[in-house]
Amino acid sequence: MAILPIVWYPEPVLKKKASEIERVNKEIRDLIDNMAQTMYNAPGVGLAAPQVGKSLRLIVLDPTGEEAKEFMALVNPEIISGEGEQVGEEGCLSVPGIRADVRRFAKVRVKGYDPIKEKEVEIEAEGLLARIFQHEIDHLDGKIFLDRLGRVKRELLKRRYLKHLKQNKKGGR
Ligand code: NI
Repeated sequence: MAILPIVWYPEPVLKKKASEIERVNKEIRDLIDNMAQTMYNAPGVGLAAPQVGKSLRLIVLDPTGEEAKEFMALVNPEIISGEGEQVGEEGCLSVPGIRADVRRFAKVRVKGYDPIKEKEVEIEAEGLLARIFQHEIDHLDGKIFLDRLGRVKRELLKRRYLKHLKQNKKGGR
Protein backbone atom coordinates (compact mmCIF):
# COMPACT_ATOMS: atom_id res chain seq x y z
CA MET A 1 0.00 0.00 0.00
CA ALA A 2 1.09 3.55 -0.60
CA ILE A 3 0.06 7.05 0.27
CA LEU A 4 -0.77 8.83 -2.96
CA PRO A 5 -0.21 12.53 -3.64
CA ILE A 6 -3.48 14.47 -3.45
CA VAL A 7 -4.03 16.90 -6.31
CA TRP A 8 -5.22 20.40 -5.50
CA TYR A 9 -7.86 22.49 -7.16
CA PRO A 10 -7.70 23.91 -9.90
CA GLU A 11 -5.96 20.84 -11.42
CA PRO A 12 -7.95 19.94 -14.60
CA VAL A 13 -8.61 16.34 -13.39
CA LEU A 14 -10.79 17.81 -10.63
CA LYS A 15 -12.94 19.65 -13.16
CA LYS A 16 -13.77 16.84 -15.55
CA LYS A 17 -16.35 14.09 -15.57
CA ALA A 18 -14.69 10.83 -14.50
CA SER A 19 -15.03 7.58 -16.51
CA GLU A 20 -17.08 4.54 -15.51
CA ILE A 21 -15.09 1.55 -14.30
CA GLU A 22 -15.86 -1.50 -16.41
CA ARG A 23 -14.08 -4.15 -14.41
CA VAL A 24 -12.75 -4.28 -10.87
CA ASN A 25 -9.34 -5.79 -11.58
CA LYS A 26 -6.10 -5.87 -9.61
CA GLU A 27 -5.25 -2.33 -10.66
CA ILE A 28 -8.55 -1.01 -9.26
CA ARG A 29 -8.20 -3.06 -6.06
CA ASP A 30 -4.72 -1.64 -5.51
CA LEU A 31 -6.05 1.85 -6.16
CA ILE A 32 -8.78 1.28 -3.53
CA ASP A 33 -6.19 0.15 -0.95
CA ASN A 34 -3.97 3.12 -1.70
CA MET A 35 -6.87 5.58 -1.62
CA ALA A 36 -7.94 4.15 1.77
CA GLN A 37 -4.47 4.62 3.18
CA THR A 38 -4.25 8.13 1.69
CA MET A 39 -7.61 9.11 3.18
CA TYR A 40 -6.82 7.86 6.71
CA ASN A 41 -3.39 9.43 6.56
CA ALA A 42 -4.66 12.88 5.46
CA PRO A 43 -6.82 12.53 7.62
CA GLY A 44 -10.16 12.69 5.86
CA VAL A 45 -13.58 11.03 5.83
CA GLY A 46 -13.83 10.59 2.07
CA LEU A 47 -11.75 10.58 -1.09
CA ALA A 48 -12.65 10.37 -4.78
CA ALA A 49 -10.29 8.92 -7.42
CA PRO A 50 -9.89 12.25 -9.31
CA GLN A 51 -8.32 13.63 -6.10
CA VAL A 52 -5.39 11.28 -6.61
CA GLY A 53 -5.23 12.12 -10.31
CA LYS A 54 -7.30 9.16 -11.59
CA SER A 55 -10.33 10.18 -13.61
CA LEU A 56 -12.39 7.14 -12.59
CA ARG A 57 -15.78 6.74 -10.88
CA LEU A 58 -14.56 5.42 -7.55
CA ILE A 59 -14.91 6.74 -4.01
CA VAL A 60 -13.77 5.58 -0.58
CA LEU A 61 -15.12 6.87 2.70
CA ASP A 62 -15.31 6.36 6.42
CA PRO A 63 -17.50 8.76 8.41
CA THR A 64 -15.54 7.95 11.60
CA GLY A 65 -12.19 8.91 10.03
CA GLU A 66 -10.68 6.08 12.10
CA GLU A 67 -8.72 3.43 10.30
CA ALA A 68 -10.95 0.67 8.90
CA LYS A 69 -13.77 1.40 11.33
CA GLU A 70 -16.65 1.98 8.90
CA PHE A 71 -14.71 1.79 5.66
CA MET A 72 -16.63 1.67 2.43
CA ALA A 73 -15.59 1.78 -1.21
CA LEU A 74 -18.04 2.25 -4.05
CA VAL A 75 -17.45 1.82 -7.78
CA ASN A 76 -19.62 3.79 -10.23
CA PRO A 77 -21.66 5.30 -7.39
CA GLU A 78 -24.83 7.14 -8.25
CA ILE A 79 -27.34 9.09 -6.19
CA ILE A 80 -30.73 7.71 -7.17
CA SER A 81 -32.83 9.89 -4.89
CA GLY A 82 -32.51 12.57 -2.27
CA GLU A 83 -34.85 14.24 0.19
CA GLY A 84 -34.91 16.99 2.79
CA GLU A 85 -32.00 19.29 3.39
CA GLN A 86 -29.13 19.84 5.78
CA VAL A 87 -26.59 22.63 6.02
CA GLY A 88 -23.17 21.83 7.41
CA GLU A 89 -19.54 22.81 7.19
CA GLU A 90 -17.36 21.08 4.60
CA GLY A 91 -13.76 21.13 3.61
CA CYS A 92 -11.91 19.17 0.96
CA LEU A 93 -8.44 17.62 0.83
CA SER A 94 -8.10 19.11 -2.66
CA VAL A 95 -8.98 22.62 -1.48
CA PRO A 96 -6.75 22.97 1.59
CA GLY A 97 -7.42 25.78 4.03
CA ILE A 98 -10.98 26.56 2.94
CA ARG A 99 -14.19 25.54 4.72
CA ALA A 100 -17.77 26.59 4.04
CA ASP A 101 -21.34 25.74 4.96
CA VAL A 102 -22.91 23.71 2.17
CA ARG A 103 -26.58 22.84 1.64
CA ARG A 104 -27.14 19.17 0.81
CA PHE A 105 -29.91 16.57 0.82
CA ALA A 106 -30.57 15.31 4.36
CA LYS A 107 -31.06 11.74 3.09
CA VAL A 108 -29.91 10.02 -0.07
CA ARG A 109 -30.21 6.65 -1.71
CA VAL A 110 -26.98 5.64 -3.41
CA LYS A 111 -26.29 2.69 -5.66
CA GLY A 112 -23.06 1.28 -6.97
CA TYR A 113 -20.78 -1.73 -6.97
CA ASP A 114 -19.30 -2.65 -3.60
CA PRO A 115 -15.86 -4.15 -4.31
CA ILE A 116 -15.62 -5.66 -0.80
CA LYS A 117 -19.00 -7.42 -0.92
CA GLU A 118 -18.44 -8.01 -4.67
CA LYS A 119 -21.97 -7.07 -5.63
CA GLU A 120 -24.20 -4.17 -6.61
CA VAL A 121 -25.58 -2.46 -3.52
CA GLU A 122 -28.10 0.20 -2.62
CA ILE A 123 -27.41 2.25 0.46
CA GLU A 124 -29.65 4.61 2.37
CA ALA A 125 -27.68 7.32 4.10
CA GLU A 126 -28.46 10.34 6.21
CA GLY A 127 -26.60 13.01 8.14
CA LEU A 128 -22.82 13.01 7.74
CA LEU A 129 -22.75 9.84 5.64
CA ALA A 130 -25.26 11.38 3.19
CA ARG A 131 -23.13 14.52 3.06
CA ILE A 132 -19.96 12.55 2.32
CA PHE A 133 -21.63 10.62 -0.50
CA GLN A 134 -22.87 13.85 -2.10
CA HIS A 135 -19.49 15.59 -1.73
CA GLU A 136 -17.49 12.65 -3.14
CA ILE A 137 -19.88 11.87 -6.00
CA ASP A 138 -19.73 15.56 -6.99
CA HIS A 139 -15.97 15.06 -7.48
CA LEU A 140 -16.77 12.40 -10.11
CA ASP A 141 -18.77 15.00 -12.02
CA GLY A 142 -16.00 17.59 -11.88
CA LYS A 143 -17.51 19.60 -9.04
CA ILE A 144 -16.02 20.76 -5.77
CA PHE A 145 -17.99 21.85 -2.71
CA LEU A 146 -17.50 25.53 -3.53
CA ASP A 147 -19.54 24.97 -6.70
CA ARG A 148 -22.54 24.30 -4.43
CA LEU A 149 -22.45 27.81 -2.96
CA GLY A 150 -24.11 30.98 -4.20
CA ARG A 151 -22.13 32.96 -6.75
CA VAL A 152 -20.88 35.74 -4.47
CA LYS A 153 -19.67 33.41 -1.70
CA ARG A 154 -18.18 31.00 -4.24
CA GLU A 155 -16.16 33.65 -6.07
CA LEU A 156 -14.96 35.16 -2.78
CA LEU A 157 -13.75 31.80 -1.42
CA LYS A 158 -12.18 30.73 -4.73
CA ARG A 159 -10.26 34.01 -4.91
CA ARG A 160 -9.13 33.63 -1.29
CA TYR A 161 -8.09 30.03 -1.92
CA LEU A 162 -6.13 30.81 -5.11
CA LYS A 163 -4.30 33.61 -3.28
CA HIS A 164 -3.33 31.21 -0.45
CA LEU A 165 -2.25 28.63 -3.00
CA LYS A 166 0.03 31.11 -4.76
CA GLN A 167 1.65 32.06 -1.45
CA ASN A 168 2.10 28.41 -0.47
CA LYS A 169 3.69 27.58 -3.81
CA LYS A 170 6.22 30.34 -3.23
CA GLY A 171 6.98 28.49 -0.01
CA GLY A 172 8.22 25.57 -2.06
CA ARG A 173 5.52 22.94 -2.73
NI1 NI B 1 -13.49 16.83 -1.64
